[in-house]
Amino acid sequence: MRVTADLSFGPGFRWGVSTSAYQIEGAVAEGGRGPSTWDTFCAEPGRIMNGDTGEIACDHYHRYAEDVALMRELGVDTYRFSFSWSRIQPSGIGPAVASGMDFYDRLIDTLLGAGIQPAPTLFHWDTPQPLEDAGGWLSRDICDRFAEYALMLAERFADRVPMWITINEPMVLTLMGYSLGAHAPGKQLLFDALPVAHHQLLAHGRAVQALRAGGASYIGIASNHAPTWPASDSVEDTEAAGLYDNLINWLFADPVLLGSYPAGFEAAMPGPVADDLAVISTPLDWFGINHYSPVSVGATTGQADTAATDGILLPPGLPFEPRQLTGYPTTDFGWPVVPAAFGEILRTFKDRYGDRLPPLYITENGCAINDEPVDGVVTDQRRIDYLDGYLRALKEAIDDGIDVRGYFQWSLLDNFEWAAGYSQRFGLVHVDFETLERTPKASYHWFRDVIGRG
Ligand code: NOJ
Repeated sequence: MRVTADLSFGPGFRWGVSTSAYQIEGAVAEGGRGPSTWDTFCAEPGRIMNGDTGEIACDHYHRYAEDVALMRELGVDTYRFSFSWSRIQPSGIGPAVASGMDFYDRLIDTLLGAGIQPAPTLFHWDTPQPLEDAGGWLSRDICDRFAEYALMLAERFADRVPMWITINEPMVLTLMGYSLGAHAPGKQLLFDALPVAHHQLLAHGRAVQALRAGGASYIGIASNHAPTWPASDSVEDTEAAGLYDNLINWLFADPVLLGSYPAGFEAAMPGPVADDLAVISTPLDWFGINHYSPVSVGATTGQADTAATDGILLPPGLPFEPRQLTGYPTTDFGWPVVPAAFGEILRTFKDRYGDRLPPLYITENGCAINDEPVDGVVTDQRRIDYLDGYLRALKEAIDDGIDVRGYFQWSLLDNFEWAAGYSQRFGLVHVDFETLERTPKASYHWFRDVIGRG
């Protein structure tokens, strides 16, 4: 497909791809790595589709040089990946394991040699299992551990890493990991999971301070956000959607950007919350938004459609219910494709935070399109259409004055998509999970063309 000239973002705009450690590295028992909550969760029967695990994943641990070569050929200037905490501190405390640090040294040096800037995330959901056993994110102690880990990473890598991300999608770990139990560590605490949100936010703030103390700069967070649309104009649906909107969007962004929780939430949080908020709102250099699709939410009917919840059966008694949005194309994961919602969430950020909003980066955007190679060629036209629509919406938002400085596509490779295992393919590059062979898809060539336009 030809790229038209108007899909151009100008010089200085950063183009990247994103991945995370558990989803691509494999080699879970190598180099002194200890188990994470995701190793434990995957070993529990029935948790992951088809019994898949991240044991081998894309074998990026051994094939990172090939993957960096794919990125260089793609033309990205930035690579967002995550450190595996369990590779660096298997017990979550104490000195770093040399081989763990060495792996990331090799990766970072290979990236720099290819002219690609590393943008690592400190935590992308894979908590060292010993820390989970000690209470995990329900326990305030993890904030101290995370700050120590952050300092260690900064001291080792700040000389070569120009951009840092503290935590990925704290909302998803709270909701899917501790509230609904569909992700590791598999707890179903419903609203009693709220301390997990607070502790991740506090750990984020402590990490910003520790990273700076260790010499790191250009620090942000990768938070997922989606417009929440009421299923109807009724008072009940509007109220349910409003509560859901606070829970998935503003509970995570307000503390970081305003130093306060949305009304009614502060009392649910543990510890000296007012003091903590001062730490949580430690100024950032930029704010990262992960965005995929909008959500439609209504009042509880007791007949929630699992198509709207990635197949998860919601426990009874929740005061809201996600509904399937109709009238839009969907990805193979069933997520609605609505480029206008991308512009909407960016404008909402600008309206809500005004001058307090630092420059934005799109730290994730992409889609699951499961096309397979035919005669060695993957013609994933629907991914091209998705990216074309979303990039146009982004361009419009930037032209309207929203300060977005870069776009990192999710993901370079097909990889382990959490509870969905290997059933959902988000990559620009196809991975054959039997042979681990990589095949750049049509969307890879299309994206290279977009990037090439600057
Ligand atoms: C959000 C997560 O950060 C990432 O791990 C996941 O694979 C993608 N979105 C797609 O669901």
